[in-house]
Order: sequence, then C-alpha cells, then structure tokens
Amino acid sequence: MTDRSAVVDKIQTLKKKKNALILAHNYQREEVQDIADHTGDSLELSRIAASIDCEVIVFCGVNFMAESASILSPDKMVLLPEISAGCPMADMITVGGARNARTDFPGFRYERGYTYPAEFTLKDIKKIHPGVPVVTYVNTTADVKAESDICCTSANGVRIVESLDSDKVICVPDKNLSAWIASKTKKEVIAWDGFCHVHERVTADDVDVVRQEHPDAVVLAHPECRMEVLEKADHVTSTSGMIRFAESSEAKEFIIGTETGLLYGLIKNNPDKIFYPLRKDMVCPNMKKTSLNSVLHCLESETYKIKVPEEIRVPAKKALDRMLEVN
Ligand code: 13P
Ligand code: SF4
Repeated sequence: MTDRSAVVDKIQTLKKKKNALILAHNYQREEVQDIADHTGDSLELSRIAASIDCEVIVFCGVNFMAESASILSPDKMVLLPEISAGCPMADMITVGGARNARTDFPGFRYERGYTYPAEFTLKDIKKIHPGVPVVTYVNTTADVKAESDICCTSANGVRIVESLDSDKVICVPDKNLSAWIASKTKKEVIAWDGFCHVHERVTADDVDVVRQEHPDAVVLAHPECRMEVLEKADHVTSTSGMIRFAESSEAKEFIIGTETGLLYGLIKNNPDKIFYPLRKDMVCPNMKKTSLNSVLHCLESETYKIKVPEEIRVPAKKALDRMLEVN
C-alpha cells in the first residue's frame, strides 16, 4: 500500500468513527478534493454546512469558510486543518480598523482620487451613509458579517443587491466584485478598496494573449478579476458556475479565469473538452496549505476548532441566513 493510500484509509476510518464529513472548496489540492464528501463554491458549501447531518465538519478551505460553517451549524465541531490558511482579502476590512473605501467605479457616484482615512472602519462608512444597507462578501471575518445587513457570494452578488429595498448599497470588501455588481444594477454601489491578489494580477492583455493562442476557446472569468478582464470574458461566474457552464456548453475549449485548482475537476469530469488556465500563476497559497496529512492530523487531534462567540455569531448568522433566503 502506498503512503498516500494508507493516509486515505486512516482518514476514512476516523471519519466513520467520529461521524465527520469533509467539505472542500473547488480550489483545494486534487488529493483533498478526492477525499471530500462535498466540493463546491462558497455558496454551495454554506448551504451544505447549514443542512449537513454529522457531528464534525472538516473544512478544507480558508478560515472565513470554516467560520461560516460554524456560524450556520453551531452545534457541530468545525475543524480547519491548517490554522494559518487565511484569505488576505478578508483581512482588508475590519470592524475596528480598516482600509480605504472608494466610489470611483463606472456607474458609481464619481469621486476619483477620494479616499477615506487609513484608520477608516466599516462603522465609519455606515455613519457616512446612514440607513444604506451593507452587503458583505462572504470572504470576510465573522465580526464584519455581524456588522452587515446581508452577505453575498460571487454566485449571487447581483441577485442579493437587486433584492434590497434601497437604491444605494455599500458593498465590501472586494472592489472588483463590487464593480461587476455595479455594472449589472441601476443601484448606486459604494465600494471598499479590497481585492484578491490571485485575481487582481490578471490584465486585459493576458486575455488577449490567451485568446490568440486558443482562438476557439470560451473565456470564463471570476468576478474577483478586474473589470477590464470581465469586459473581455465570454461569461462571468463563480467557481461552480464555471463547472456548470463548461459541462453544459457545446464548446470544446475553455480558458479558466480563476484559481488553477478548479481545472482539476473540470479536466476529470469533461474528458472530451480542453481547459487552459488564463494565467498559470493564478494559485492561492492559502488554499494550497491543506494536504492529506493535515486532514489526517486534524481528525486525529481534533484541531483546529473554529468557534465564533455567540455575540458575533448571532448577528453574523442573520446576515448569512438572509442571503440563503434570497436564492
Ligand atoms: P467561489 O465562491 O466562486 O468559489 O469563490 C471563492 C473564492 O475565494 C474566490 O477567490
Ligand atoms: Fe482569498 Fe483570493 Fe485565496 Fe479566494 S483565491 S481565498 S479570495 S486570496
């Protein structure tokens, strides 16, 4: 028996013994996706975490995802195999000390060059725009969610904003997702200045180059990419949206504008189709921290437990539940 299959066997035995289920985000390493009970995008994994029947959830992803699982399923033990697996974008906004906010995107109230002071907080932006609902991307910490009216994911951002009874919304923290939402709604979007370093690095020139190399390929892009990239894409959607699109499309070749972990499932499940990364370096180091060994260690030692304090969990759950009700 190889080392890898011995580790997989041990994981399966411990899973049964502890009544545990493994959830893995679409960006996880191939071998981790293979042992997962469910893979998916943030929205799908939130739905599963809210309804799953088990005692222990092992969340193979980054910390805000495990936090959301714990918020939605407080009676279950939620384990994050790698405690340092964070999301730099989620850290770009805090309730008590945060980054700049911007309103200089097409369709926004246009104030180019205007930034709020560096110590600006989510509470400050709420004070400046009293009564304007805060739509918070799930890529945030629990306390930011707790200060929000409703959450959204890359799959439902436009629907969430459209569902609100207000012609102005505050969207945090991703400036690119906010710009994408702003381009799809008549509502005024007040955006934060956060971004995902994996998606932000892609430019319109990258799309031109890869299109030249593969002229018949359909370009799919994640809304965390810059607007100049989204404008050149054929279809903009979440990670699982890309999977559904590629499976149902008549096209034979696809350029995938998101983290390269998504290519694994696409290639495996569509042997008659060809997939190319938009850029080979679209790799999220935090998503790649989780290995089979860390999953095994996590089940053996029941670490690292993710638990959100009740005073934060209850209002954060309200924002997540409100999102889940919209779809
Ligand atoms: P999805 O919800 O589309 O899977 O995206 C999550 C994420 O972290 C993108 O960088
Ligand atoms: Fe965060 Fe980007 Fe990694 Fe997603 S890909 S977890 S947004 S850093």
